[in-house]
Amino acid sequence: MSRDFLSLSDAGTHGLVELLDSADRFRATRGTTDAPKPLLGKSVACVFEKASTRTRISLEVAVFELGAHPVVLLSAGSQIGRGEPVEDTARVLSRYVHAITLRTFSQKALELLAEHAEAPVLNALSDLGHPLQLLADLQTVRRIRGKLEGLRYAWIGDGNNMANSWIEAAGLLGFELTLACPEGYDPDPSMLVEARDRGGRVRIVRDPREAATGADVLSTDVFASMGQEEEQAARLEAFAGFSVTEELVSHANDDVMVLHCLPAHRGEEIAAGVLEGPRSFVWDQAEARLHTAKAALVWAIEHDG
Ligand code: CP
Ligand code: NVA
Repeated sequence: MSRDFLSLSDAGTHGLVELLDSADRFRATRGTTDAPKPLLGKSVACVFEKASTRTRISLEVAVFELGAHPVVLLSAGSQIGRGEPVEDTARVLSRYVHAITLRTFSQKALELLAEHAEAPVLNALSDLGHPLQLLADLQTVRRIRGKLEGLRYAWIGDGNNMANSWIEAAGLLGFELTLACPEGYDPDPSMLVEARDRGGRVRIVRDPREAATGADVLSTDVFASMGQEEEQAARLEAFAGFSVTEELVSHANDDVMVLHCLPAHRGEEIAAGVLEGPRSFVWDQAEARLHTAKAALVWAIEHDG
């Protein structure tokens, strides 16, 4: 039996820890004779309606290293880009491949794909969440800190897909997360309710310093996500004071880990000196996309329960 990975909640708390353990094993065995190839002979369709560097390459390489064949489908040049219904794409792709990953503009499209696909569907970024990235972020924190619990997490900036997935993680793992977002740019309210119901200590504040103070992990992302390009100028204004600068980082704990899913806009949401500085773990984070992609693909395809 297969299962979808549309959000971290699809894994649940136990499944999330299982995924991180599995990603650690893939990290440890990569390039060795012990590297497993559990998807030998299978194929995975990686569908992208939006641009991607990390997600596309990490998924393609992950599929290949697991012994399977990746088929990348970009909306430009495919029938998806010409308006073929997602329900039809779901049923057709399921006749060919063993899993489908989708990066899309709308959460609704992702859910429709999952509803109509027999193959498991993995969310490679939607407007609501970016769970594959969160797996990488959590793996990086756990590897460097040796744990996820008992740390104080901060989010600075837009209440976007990344912020939503951090909130979901806080609910599932029960950690303390403070998000500093400008008024009008809050995360999805239902994500907040769900995380709090699960025991996540999630707060929204308006002062980035308040969120950064005492933080062990400080994350940020672009002010304008893909699809919001026209709002760039208005957002630059709204997010004034929400840049992760050296001054802001000085309020966090000395050993704070600064994270950014990338791509980054130096001088906007993050100062170049912070991104390139000693507290930045962004390149480890990017590498972790590969190990965690393997874990998620195997989890989705090889589930037998
Ligand atoms: N972090 C991330 O998802 O990067 P890409 O947009 O390059 O895939
Ligand atoms: N919030 C960003 C993340 C990119 C990986 C976006 O959706 O464009």
